[in-house]
Amino acid sequence: MLNKFITTEDGSITCLEPECGELYHNRAGAYTEALNNYAKPCALEKRVKKQKQIAVLDSCFGLGYNTFVFINELLEQLNTNNLGGVLETCRIVAIDRDRDIVKLLPEILAQSQFKLLCQTLDSNQMLDTLQNSAIYSFNPKADSSFSISLELKFADLRRAVLRLVENEEQFDCIFHDGFSPIAMPELWTIDLFQLYKKLLNSDGRIITYSSAYAIRSALKQCGLQIRKTIAVGKKSGGTIAFKNSEEIVDNENIFFLSQEENEKLSSHSGIPYRDPDFKYSRAQIVENREAEIRQAKLCANK
Ligand SMILES: C[S@@+](CC[C@H](N)C(=O)[O-])C[C@H]1O[C@@H](n2cnc3c(N)ncnc32)[C@H](O)[C@@H]1O
Repeated sequence: MLNKFITTEDGSITCLEPECGELYHNRAGAYTEALNNYAKPCALEKRVKKQKQIAVLDSCFGLGYNTFVFINELLEQLNTNNLGGVLETCRIVAIDRDRDIVKLLPEILAQSQFKLLCQTLDSNQMLDTLQNSAIYSFNPKADSSFSISLELKFADLRRAVLRLVENEEQFDCIFHDGFSPIAMPELWTIDLFQLYKKLLNSDGRIITYSSAYAIRSALKQCGLQIRKTIAVGKKSGGTIAFKNSEEIVDNENIFFLSQEENEKLSSHSGIPYRDPDFKYSRAQIVENREAEIRQAKLCANK
């Protein structure tokens, strides 16, 4: 059980995962990362005006920043538009394998950045509901029919995503926020991304903090269009993978990859992690990728 919070450089708190020794967030700021690498790249301003429904999959919910900052941003958009848009519902499905994280959420939500969110919903009731894997719904403005629902599934990500595909679920935005590919390669395989692609609406996008070539290349090999998000702290910008290039609006949050970055995708560094039946151990996934890299180098030297 995690019990110690660490303050990141923007003043927001995070935790250290003892097994892999990684922080839950970018050292430069847990809140800033959720805002710049996840919420802003969702293009909420456009969606609020154009869509009746928004559906988000938050893979690796953790301390909930990506979901909570997304809701915060949505509430701000709704206030700005005076609920004049066409949006009627927002559905968020979150997945994490760790049930204990819900106990940490009161301290996350007590931070000043979540004031608007906590004024809008009953956070105790929400946390009780999430703990029991039930769906928490709330209406941010009593005088409108607009509602937001949030469901937290406690499960292994790969199994949960397979079930969502079997149920033919569809999402506008998929947040992917596992610990790093080096620590947990099983969460970064091309096979998982192929499932994500099936879950995307026609103008959907997969959003992750990772800028690793093996990850960008895997998303590209799934037939998705790749762009990057703004850098947070010392880390390079994250990645957005779009299903439909017509939906890409390059703006202050979304950028083209440089020529050098694009070239790297077809180099050995871009060879993806693979786990076709979601059965391999971490060591097996890494070993198989290393063997594939060795083979590619041999072929290149012939
Ligand atoms: C980097 S943290 C996520 C941070 C989070 N998105 C946030 O905004 O606070 C990674 C999370 O992945 C979860 N996780 C690790 N392996 C998993 C698996 N196989 N299935 C589901 N969740 C997993 C961990 O429990 C942890 O909460």
